[in-house]
Amino acid sequence: MTKFYELSTEQRLQQLEEQGILTASEKALFRDNTALPTTIASRLVENQIGTFPLPLGLANHFLIDGHQYLVPMAIEEPSVIAAASNAAQRVARSGGFTTQVQRQGIRAQIVFVGQLGQPQKFLKAQQRALKQVALQAHPSLIAHGGGLRQITVQQQEEFVEFQLLIDPGEAMGANVVNTIAEAVGHYLQIQLPQLEYLMAILSNHAPEQKVQAVAEVQFEQLQTSNLSGEVVARKIVQASKLAHISLARAATHNKGIMNGVQAVVLATGNDTRNVAASVYAGLNDQHRSLSSWHLTPKGLRGVLNLNLPLGSVGGAISTLPLAQINLKILQHPSAAQLMRIIASVGLASNLAALRALVTQGIQAGHMNLQLQSLALMAGARTSEIDLIVKQLRQQPQQANLAQAKALITKLRQQSQGGIE
Ligand code: MEV
Repeated sequence: MTKFYELSTEQRLQQLEEQGILTASEKALFRDNTALPTTIASRLVENQIGTFPLPLGLANHFLIDGHQYLVPMAIEEPSVIAAASNAAQRVARSGGFTTQVQRQGIRAQIVFVGQLGQPQKFLKAQQRALKQVALQAHPSLIAHGGGLRQITVQQQEEFVEFQLLIDPGEAMGANVVNTIAEAVGHYLQIQLPQLEYLMAILSNHAPEQKVQAVAEVQFEQLQTSNLSGEVVARKIVQASKLAHISLARAATHNKGIMNGVQAVVLATGNDTRNVAASVYAGLNDQHRSLSSWHLTPKGLRGVLNLNLPLGSVGGAISTLPLAQINLKILQHPSAAQLMRIIASVGLASNLAALRALVTQGIQAGHMNLQLQSLALMAGARTSEIDLIVKQLRQQPQQANLAQAKALITKLRQQSQGGIE
């Protein structure tokens, strides 16, 4: 029998339908996708049967280093885009986000097992040759403004670890860095036959790819209908302090930041897992929270620091048609500009979450979209959703799936009654 991976996408879908795993209409949902054609999707992953669309929205009001941006965000969670836009507007009215970027390279580890007497002496003698091997492994990198920037070596217990710092140009760098690391690893193995080669791989710890976003927000931009801007600002500062001392709160605080960050990372075809690994690798017991908020004489000052390994070309970024369109909406940013934008969206998401938490609570802002998804889950048709949401909203304590289903049944009975 032909193996699943040997079939075309159409044949895989046919087989799944024949096996009763997919219905004909589910099969059509997988097949009829024009945004990411099978010709591309089937080259990106193995055993491809379809694509998995998420809602894509645009956050507005982002003023970053004096430039205005509309920011594409791909995310399934209600309220994230509205909240980021709302906070961005408060920041824009106070002067906008300012950012700083350092983008010096991605690290690779080449690791051997054994003891290397005088590792620094070995490295000094081999520096030139290693640079040449790296260059030959990826000659075009120099033309793209990148290249090998640094080599270090250290003996740690039984491991001899060489670290390369490679500037990947505008790419995120996974392919380039792994290619160079393996070539250098192979060369080193020949020079060091007494050591046992273990691995060569990029590191997702990316302290050389870092961005800082800063937002100043005036008191009047923070007030609510019943709390002054000063009171809200003071509460946000307390919330920020809590995230620094409480691990339980830090995880949630950081999650709110990653809501914004990962939605833009995904929309631009960047690697969300790489970003998650790098961001969390930058945290430790002394540094639990990604952001800090402090009072200033006129309002609040928020700072977000992220290790953010991103690219603006290469891999899925260049292959996914929607990522290309989203980058166009972002005015074709360089990788460094994309870091600035994404950090600003993270800080806006954080501000929105903290302001909501210390004032009306998080559920009030989520209510409308949550009720809509409840109505959808209960089987409401598009034409019925608004009415069901309105009815659910009248008794928010009873807004559950059973109630939504009951309201739909009642609505349909009433409209049948009306027709008769
Ligand atoms: C929900 O996705 C994110 C929040 O929990 C973040 C936070 O608590 O700061 C609202």
